[in-house]
Amino acid sequence: MKQIEIIKPDDWHIHFRDNDIMRQVVPETTRYFGRGIVMPNLVPPILNGTQAIEYKKRIIKSIPRNNNFEPFMTIYLTEKTRKDELKEAHDNGTVFAAKLYPAGATTNSESGVKDISKIIPVLEKMSEIGMPLLIHGEVTDKNIDIFDREKVFIEKYLEFILKEFPDLKITLEHITTKDAVEYVDGNNRKLAASITPHHLALNRNAIFSNGINPHNYCLPILKREKHREALVKAAVSGNPKFFLGTDTAPHLVKDKENACGCAGIFNATYCLQILAQIFENENSLSNLEKFTSKNGSIHYSLKFNEDKITLVKSEEAQEIVKFLNFQNEKIRIFSPNFDIFWKVKV
Ligand code: NCD
Ligand code: ZN
Repeated sequence: MKQIEIIKPDDWHIHFRDNDIMRQVVPETTRYFGRGIVMPNLVPPILNGTQAIEYKKRIIKSIPRNNNFEPFMTIYLTEKTRKDELKEAHDNGTVFAAKLYPAGATTNSESGVKDISKIIPVLEKMSEIGMPLLIHGEVTDKNIDIFDREKVFIEKYLEFILKEFPDLKITLEHITTKDAVEYVDGNNRKLAASITPHHLALNRNAIFSNGINPHNYCLPILKREKHREALVKAAVSGNPKFFLGTDTAPHLVKDKENACGCAGIFNATYCLQILAQIFENENSLSNLEKFTSKNGSIHYSLKFNEDKITLVKSEEAQEIVKFLNFQNEKIRIFSPNFDIFWKVKV
């Protein structure tokens, strides 16, 4: 039997939502992950330290007793974010990072930033105090093709931010293109990128296989095969600039299978099993731990988790549960279009 032991993984990009949905999804992430960065795009968003503390308490209450997990909180940047408030929330340990959503770029991003020049004083302060900036890197200009929005963001905005703030620690979140891989790899020491399991597993054909498939719709949208290949190469290489941020984002099936289906993929349940399969397929299992459990900690200047987990390969492909029940509704659980032979030993 093949098995590997790795340092307990962290998920550096999570949507836990709130209230009942939160209580349903928190156990899925906290079962195997040690720490995670929690996204602030609630309705209404988490805008300050006080709201972050309250939200963190609600999350902690929904962690099952046997799961050992530490949530890292974020603030949603708006053009009105006050730099002194941000500094206080960071200094007192309430908030770990701030998230930049260009207004309208993705789910619940309406209150985001329209004009980057408005947040320059805030970015200056973040750079000074060593607070990481997490970026949803897509332009929102509807004239830009949806498949090009990440690339154009890099050219138009990221380049500018890096030039203005060479000391700012930046994560380009959930990257999806070869362009992003090359840019992050070739640039500033303090720039790194997170990658999701679904962008490693699927290319954009998956949105249109056997008719339109809203469950594979997320933002940034899945890209061509050559981009997926570049992401896989970056992830399995062990390069410290690339690490796991699942972007696990629950939506009810009725909201996905809808004339105006929303963006987001819930992948917490089988994330590690899927990654083990992808890394094995690339003969790179020995780098899995770097991607899931080390590179993110290095980027964020944190210690590695002390616990370990073991992944075991079975003879038979594992049975995938398709849905997480939620009251009278369901949340679709992400599974890729290939078999998974790996399980997490419990
Ligand atoms: C996320 C969500 O549902 O909150 N959706 C998504 O498609 N990834 C938001 C985000 O991270 O863009
Ligand atoms: Zn996200």
